[in-house]
Amino acid sequence: MCGIIGYVGVDEVVPVVLDGLRRLEYRGYDSAGIAVVGAGEIRILRAAGKLRNLEQRAYHEPLHGTTGIGHTRWATHGAPTEANAHPQRDVSGAVAVVHNGILENYSDLRAELIEAGVDLTSDTDTELIAQLIGREKGPLPERVRAILPRLHGQYAVVAVFKDEPDVVVAFRQGPPLVIGIGEDEAIVASDVVALLHRTREVLFLDDNEIAVVRRDGIELLDSAGDHVERSTETLDWDAGRVEKGGYRHFMLKEIFEQPDAIRNTVVSHLDAARSGVILDGLGFDPEKMDKIRRVHLVACGTSWHASLVGKFLIEKLCGLPTDVDYASEYRYRSPLLRDDTLVIGVTQSGETADTLAAMSLAKSQGSLLGTVCNVRGSSAWREADATILTQAGPEIGVASTKAFTTQLVAMLLLALALRKHGGGADELDTELVHQLQTLPVAIEKTLSMERATFRRATEMLSGAPNSLFLGRGILYPIALEGALKLKEISYLHAEGYPAGEMKHGPIALLQDGFPVVSLALNTATREKLLGNLMEVRARGASVIAVAEADSKAVDEIADLVLPVPHVHPLLQPIVAVVPLQLLAYNVAVELGLDVDQPRNLAKSVTVE
Ligand code: AGP
Repeated sequence: MCGIIGYVGVDEVVPVVLDGLRRLEYRGYDSAGIAVVGAGEIRILRAAGKLRNLEQRAYHEPLHGTTGIGHTRWATHGAPTEANAHPQRDVSGAVAVVHNGILENYSDLRAELIEAGVDLTSDTDTELIAQLIGREKGPLPERVRAILPRLHGQYAVVAVFKDEPDVVVAFRQGPPLVIGIGEDEAIVASDVVALLHRTREVLFLDDNEIAVVRRDGIELLDSAGDHVERSTETLDWDAGRVEKGGYRHFMLKEIFEQPDAIRNTVVSHLDAARSGVILDGLGFDPEKMDKIRRVHLVACGTSWHASLVGKFLIEKLCGLPTDVDYASEYRYRSPLLRDDTLVIGVTQSGETADTLAAMSLAKSQGSLLGTVCNVRGSSAWREADATILTQAGPEIGVASTKAFTTQLVAMLLLALALRKHGGGADELDTELVHQLQTLPVAIEKTLSMERATFRRATEMLSGAPNSLFLGRGILYPIALEGALKLKEISYLHAEGYPAGEMKHGPIALLQDGFPVVSLALNTATREKLLGNLMEVRARGASVIAVAEADSKAVDEIADLVLPVPHVHPLLQPIVAVVPLQLLAYNVAVELGLDVDQPRNLAKSVTVE
């Protein structure tokens, strides 16, 4: 939520910051703003709406300087107006800040400042941070450090100061901040995608730390004001992966990157002979693994759907009872946690606030904590004892695609590793490891599906305000995911349901032409699913089925088949979701919607 950036260096700051904001716009796009320090003052430009509005203002009202900050907003406190856009500054104009997060003691601080006679100009909690810093006196880090105990809640803040034109200061509690160190410059950002094109040498700021960032170095302090020593890390992500590369949208590019993303994820977790899974070096302590009797998977959104598939895989392959929880529920429901419980936070970004809170709860209760995560260095990665890193590369489209399929792969790898650790590996494991390696080819086949097939499916869905997605067993989570994809980017209501439950309510929705999308691959329960689809047809509804290309029984019932190749039943979720991603994408494009930046959403939900 919200993209923030700060720059100090030798280049003109406005183009650098605008470029960074363009790369961060997926995090929020309600309004944007920039502040530049120079000629003894801080000058600010802000605009409501998308970044292009700010870019136009910056073109007509040029600002010059080599130190500045920028922000792209996902509104929390206050409507998405220019007055509420960041940067916000204090009354005297001494400090300007950008902020990602929420101050929980907003009302108290606001009342206190009004009482003290401060003339507030916005409805934001961010302005309160600027006003508090502005009222402090003394040397720079102290002015910031003094206010930290006053801030309750979640914040990542970058600030610039009128009297220190060559410095940006960053501090956080919760939402992420990364500092990139380049030649004669430093960039602070809420995500590495904003700085990869300038440097790969980075330092991740920890909670309660303050970074005083200059173009020739960084001073890190803890909350007591003591110096912190930390060396930088070198990122292995390639800057080209955060460009659209000729695709119309990031989402489409990311759908087509899935064969590579899966290949990289599989290969990085196989042994040298590529015949078995290894989790060596990932932090899974063998002694603690011996104790594991139960697994909890905690996640949000699409990652929660991947966890539901994970439950099937872990229970089937390892016989370990596995619970799946929404992280936002888990953290408040006093889960039964013991040292025989392996808790895995599943998260693409590694920064989702609820997932992080659920993970830290598990850790505090002594459970072995793992994460399936896509971002090295993220908060989840740092919090967990053990990490299975998905190798999807940066995912920019708000609707998750390649991160999801690599999470499914990671779930299978985890299940195979737990099974091997428990001494249960046999020829099924060898078969699954082999199938995992041929999976990218199966995905490529799905991606080359006839355009005409999608055109028809797109017509059927884009004209219907409601639709139902049905699946059974391991494919039920894929029905949920297919429905979520459609909702997120096309704003059409879609409901994912277990097919066997249809008769207990949703069947009342069915009428002539109502689209029902079904996962009709060859599984143990396919006959039962086909029976459900007959009931759908009997009520005049239309059936779109994802099924293997040569499934006669499905052809006879469905109005349209989206074909996928044959794969092992435990890998079916991974191939089956791809046509649903493409379908949602095509419907959103057909409706003329903003695929990569759907309304009201943000890529990383870093506030509760
Ligand atoms: C997926 O398309 C979503 N935009 C969303 O549900 C996402 O999966 C969720 O917010 C969790 O994010 P995470 O994986 O980064 O934790």
